[in-house]
Amino acid sequence: MKALVITRFGGPEVLELQQVPDAHPAPEQRLVKVEAGGLNFADLLTARGGYAGTPKPPLTAGREFAGIELAGNGEPTRRRVMGYTQWAAFAEKTVANRNLVWPVPENWTAEQAAAFPVNFFTAYFAYWKAGLLARGKDEPTRVLIHAVAGGVGTAAVQIGKILGIEMYGTSSSDDKLAKVGELGLQHGINYKKRDYVEAIKELTQGEGVDAVFEMLGGEHVAKSVKCVRDFGRVIVYGAATGQTPQLDTRLLYAKGASVHGLWLSYLSANRPLMETAWRQLSEWLAAGKLNPVIGKVYPLEQAREAYTLMQEGKNYGKIVLKIS
Ligand SMILES: NC(=O)c1ccc[n+]([C@@H]2O[C@H](COP(=O)([O-])OP(=O)(O)OC[C@H]3O[C@@H](n4cnc5c(N)ncnc54)[C@H](OP(=O)(O)O)[C@@H]3O)[C@@H](O)[C@H]2O)c1
Repeated sequence: MKALVITRFGGPEVLELQQVPDAHPAPEQRLVKVEAGGLNFADLLTARGGYAGTPKPPLTAGREFAGIELAGNGEPTRRRVMGYTQWAAFAEKTVANRNLVWPVPENWTAEQAAAFPVNFFTAYFAYWKAGLLARGKDEPTRVLIHAVAGGVGTAAVQIGKILGIEMYGTSSSDDKLAKVGELGLQHGINYKKRDYVEAIKELTQGEGVDAVFEMLGGEHVAKSVKCVRDFGRVIVYGAATGQTPQLDTRLLYAKGASVHGLWLSYLSANRPLMETAWRQLSEWLAAGKLNPVIGKVYPLEQAREAYTLMQEGKNYGKIVLKIS
């Protein structure tokens, strides 16, 4: 079968379309004919060899997909599914644990479905870790979302809107912020023009936000702690700047603030937790409240361009690869 192979560790230039042996499911796995794959920042890190647990190359790229489930004999079933795996999603066929494969909502394209799992589960878990899922709508709550115009960011805005949260979000571009404004973001902050710590101080009359979703790393963990109010939480889930996260934990004392880690790869092995998350997400899906935002779709043959767009931070919403 055809697959996008990471031939050696490096940038987009190491990606090649190659023929690889067919995927075969283990007993607890589902086999899927892949129609589309969602590109994640983690795919860039995987190609560079910077993602924890990555096997040695050559390996097939990709961690989320949508397509048609195949029966044991390889014949297509009628089940349209979307799913999450660690590698090997960007291929004509893939396998995933059966508890990490979910039905595609009616009327969704494969591209929409491929843009769902990582972003929405991650965003859901960010609100969960922040302790904001159970908060009443009448309790005013504020969240700062970094990279608000990206894949996870646009998912977090949709969930925040359902939860009635006042949202603040950072991006490098006014155009991107205007688009996220249409999704429900109330306060866009262009970090190229304004220091976001100052902006949050001013926009919240010095009070700060209840939680920050932090995925930049470097100095941004400490800066994010400065943005929270008393007992606020910073949810750390990435380091897109490539810089090691920096935090003097004494900064947490003054406000009783805390920092919480979030890693979907780890949480996805916790079946009850994933089932609870899916129950809530599927309820919102059935009500038509969640719609993955797709910025650009590339054919698999142009995967290098897709990776380059994400590497340059120029994407809006999700980048999707069309596979068959
Ligand atoms: N821990 C987990 O389980 C988990 C799961 C999913 C994603 N993540 C993390 O969440 C972050 C977002 O992932 P995503 O897949 O949704 O990507 P994304 O947000 O769609 O794309 C990354 C965005 O980050 C912003 N950015 C800021 N500094 C950047 C830099 N130095 N290089 C590149 N981009 C930069 C860019 O937008 P602006 O500059 O315009 O803001 C860019 O569009 C990543 O750090 C990823 O590793 C973690």
